[in-house]
Amino acid sequence: MKHDQKSLWWQSGVIYQVYPRSFQDSNNDGVGDLRGIISRLDYLEWLGITAIWVSPIYPSPMADFGYDISDYCGVHPLFGTMQDFDELLEEVHRRDMKLILDLVPNHTSNKHPWFEESRSSRDNPKRDWYIWQDAKEDGSEPNNWLSVFGGSAWEWDENTGQYYYHAFLKEQPDLNWRNPEVQEAMFDVMRFWLDKGVDGFRVDVMWHMIKDKNLRDNPINPDYKTHQATYEQLTPSYSTDQPEVHDIVAKMRRVTDEYAERVLIGEIYLPVHRLVAYYGHENSGTHLPFNFTLINMDWNARSISTLVDEYEGALPESGWPNWVIGNHDQPRITSRIGWAQSKVAAMMLLTLRGTPTLYYGDEIGMRDVPIPPDKVQDPQGLNMPDKDLSRDPARTPMQWDDSRNAGFSEAEPWLPLADSYKRVNVAAQREDAFSMLTYYRRLLQLRQQEPALHIGDYAPVVTKGPLMAFVRKAEDKQFLIVLNLSHKPCILRQEHTHYKGKIVLATLPEREGQEVEGNISMYGDEGIVVELF
Ligand code: GLC
Repeated sequence: MKHDQKSLWWQSGVIYQVYPRSFQDSNNDGVGDLRGIISRLDYLEWLGITAIWVSPIYPSPMADFGYDISDYCGVHPLFGTMQDFDELLEEVHRRDMKLILDLVPNHTSNKHPWFEESRSSRDNPKRDWYIWQDAKEDGSEPNNWLSVFGGSAWEWDENTGQYYYHAFLKEQPDLNWRNPEVQEAMFDVMRFWLDKGVDGFRVDVMWHMIKDKNLRDNPINPDYKTHQATYEQLTPSYSTDQPEVHDIVAKMRRVTDEYAERVLIGEIYLPVHRLVAYYGHENSGTHLPFNFTLINMDWNARSISTLVDEYEGALPESGWPNWVIGNHDQPRITSRIGWAQSKVAAMMLLTLRGTPTLYYGDEIGMRDVPIPPDKVQDPQGLNMPDKDLSRDPARTPMQWDDSRNAGFSEAEPWLPLADSYKRVNVAAQREDAFSMLTYYRRLLQLRQQEPALHIGDYAPVVTKGPLMAFVRKAEDKQFLIVLNLSHKPCILRQEHTHYKGKIVLATLPEREGQEVEGNISMYGDEGIVVELF
């Protein structure tokens, strides 16, 4: 929980995820693009963002909206040109911000030339770049592994008479990371972008990258509930999180470390004790294994407080924490816990110890937008239509202003806009002292201004009921953060503590400036940051 005060940009800063299809369209085709992002950099700077992560922008048949890549070193024409990318990078750096790209090393598109070669014949030199297997004697799949997006994870290839493995869509064949040629090819991809000056990568599905050598069957999940994705029927004990993955991650880290001050972030959905292994032996792994535990956790103070302490306690020496409350794969925070609690969540995200990652639109309180069945685009939704798993609702266009299509595009956007966009938008909220945007911006400013909040130590405060509290401290300053995770008023009783101070930021701005001492009364859905005397 302690750490020295020298910090790196990815420790003291704030990451903001841009889903490029939905951020800003500059050429009026209804899909966002790189020039659109460039035109909104002033906004991100004004908001107080220090690093931007952009979801995939590479050439792709778009079976999984860019996570099926057919050329790792190019830019999809839908998003612009390499020149536009270079300009984006320059403009980001000119504002003293960082740019993080999405790296998708686990699988390629089935249209990637590597896969086209690999599938062309059994003796093609790239055959072993993917995971090919014979059928069982009865012609069935090599094992019981399931695709995250529904159905079997094996696809039969008529031409060469073998199955190939795909953890996601059949259009996303998994690379064979046991093959050193694959490793080198992907490390070269990393170097291509690092040479250009990108500041790091968010690595897609890092815990999937190596599978059991013997491809053993996954065990049945006894806790499976029928509303869950069919993938959950099995526990992926042999298809994910294999011990050898850590060697691969360490190699990726070494490539990253060939360049100064770059960051390696891993997308990893695992419980805390397995997640922290991705920091690697003596921190030789990923700098930031994305911590999604706040997304998976029930929203109540007891379980969240326990989880934060478990996480803080499990971190390896000098492993830097991080927190996430939303991304392009998850329901938005407002739709999960409600608008009032989403303000409490924002305060939690921006005051806990560790790098926060924000999802575009959360700062104006965007909600999941219901998508009519005939407009659903996401393959996860389309493949399991009865399970309500489409990720489209959280990917709708950014709401900039009250003009046509919310200022996102002149053309009809690729996904429908929220009906409320004329009220819920950046332009309106910038002017409003009580808006979600103003609140987010003030939280970001306070956080970045105060070393106690961005790099200081963390100490839990014991609470009861729906309250969660903790103290952040740097050399000369201490802040007490109190969060009420319920709608009802309640009291932080100071029986064994004697915190005394002034409220400097609150979900209810009218409370700012108030001094607190002894028992602290809290409104429902309230969060306060108290500067301690
Ligand atoms: C990651 C991405 C998700 C994508 C999947 C397959 O989970 O975040 O959007 O569908 O990987 O690449």
